[in-house]
Amino acid sequence: MRLLVLGGTVFLSRAVAEAALSRGHDVTTVSRGASGSPLEGARHVHADRDAPLPAELAGVEYDAVVDVSSRPSRVRSALAQLRAAHWVYVSSISVYADEATVGGAPGMLPQHEPLDEDSDDMADYGRLKAGCERLVGERAQSRAIVRPGLIVGPGDRSGRFTYWVDRMRRASDGEIVLAPGDPSDRVQLIDVRDLGAWIALLAERRTAGVFDAIGEPASIRDVLDDVAAGCGALPRWRWATDEQLEGVEVSPWMGPRSLPLWLPRPAYDGMMTHLAAPAFQAGLRTRPVADTARDTLAWLETADDPALTGLTADEEREVLAAFG
Ligand SMILES: NC(=O)c1ccc[n+]([C@@H]2O[C@H](COP(=O)([O-])OP(=O)(O)OC[C@H]3O[C@@H](n4cnc5c(N)ncnc54)[C@H](OP(=O)(O)O)[C@@H]3O)[C@@H](O)[C@H]2O)c1
Repeated sequence: MRLLVLGGTVFLSRAVAEAALSRGHDVTTVSRGASGSPLEGARHVHADRDAPLPAELAGVEYDAVVDVSSRPSRVRSALAQLRAAHWVYVSSISVYADEATVGGAPGMLPQHEPLDEDSDDMADYGRLKAGCERLVGERAQSRAIVRPGLIVGPGDRSGRFTYWVDRMRRASDGEIVLAPGDPSDRVQLIDVRDLGAWIALLAERRTAGVFDAIGEPASIRDVLDDVAAGCGALPRWRWATDEQLEGVEVSPWMGPRSLPLWLPRPAYDGMMTHLAAPAFQAGLRTRPVADTARDTLAWLETADDPALTGLTADEEREVLAAFG
C-alpha cells in the first residue's frame, strides 16, 4: 500500500507510520519538523499544512491517507489537494456530548455541534473533531473515522498514565500510595502502538465505518495493580472516595494537584466504558497494561521532558496525612 501519514513524527501518527512500515508498506510522512524527527524507512516531506501542499504530495495517487489534525482548515485543504482511495481520520471520543451513559458507541450518544472554523480554545476540541469528521464524511468517498479514548504508552506527553508509572518508579515496597475513587470504577485506555497498528490495518484493508478506538474497560484496581506489576513495584493502595478527594481540593484527570485516571462518578461513568467490541471485530488487538507500563517506564527513564501531570510527592504526602 502507498500510505500517506499527515504527521508521522510523534506519538500516534508516528506509531501508525511505524506499523505500516513493519507491514512492508510504502510510507510517506509530512511535518514541519517542529515536533519530532522523521522516521527511518519512511519518505519524509517537509511541509506546512497551512500553505498549499507541495506537488510531490498532491501529484501522487495514494491507497490511503491518515490524518490526525484537529484543525478544520488543514483537514479541508488535505481533502481538496490529495488523492487517495481511502481516508482514515483520527477523531476522539470527545465528539460525544454525553459523558455519563455507560456502554456508549457511535450512533448511540449525542454529539457536539460540529465546528468547522479553526479555534485554539481547548474547550472547542470536541466540536473541532466533530467538524473535521463532517468534512471527511462529505469529501472522502471511502473512509474510516476512528474515535480514540485515552491513548497511553511510550511518548505520551499528556502525562496521565505516565503519572502512575512515575509514581511506581518512586514507590518503595509496601509504601502507601494514594489511589482515587472506588476500586471497582471502570477505566479504559489504549496503548499508542496497538492503536497505530490498528489504524494501519484499517488503511490497508480500506475498512469503512465509525469506530470508538479503545481497549476493554477494567477496574481501576486491576489497572493500577497491572501498572505496579509492569514497573516491578509493590505498593499498598490507600483508596480515597470522590468526596474525600474533592474535600482536599484534588482535581480529577490531569493538571496541577490532580489524580490522573480519576473521573468523579456518576457524572463521568460513560467516559471510560465505551463499547470496545466493534473495534476488536475490525481487527484491533491490545497488549496487557503491564507491558504498556513497563515500556512507558523505559521511555520515561530516557525522556528529556516527559511532561508529567498530577500530584507532587509533597502534595500526596499532605493529602495522605489529612486522611490520617
Ligand atoms: N492523547 C489522547 O489521549 C487522545 C485521545 C483521543 C484522541 N486523540 C487524537 O489522537 C491524535 C494524536 O496524534 P499525534 O500523536 O500524531 O499528535 P498530533 O499532535 O495530533 O500530530 C502532530 C503531527 O502533525 C504534524 N503537524 C502539526 N502541525 C502541522 C502543520 N501545520 N503542517 C504539517 N504538519 C503538522 C506534527 O509535526 P510538526 O509539529 O513537526 O509539524 C506531528 O507530526 C490526535 O488526532 C488527537 O486529537 C488523542
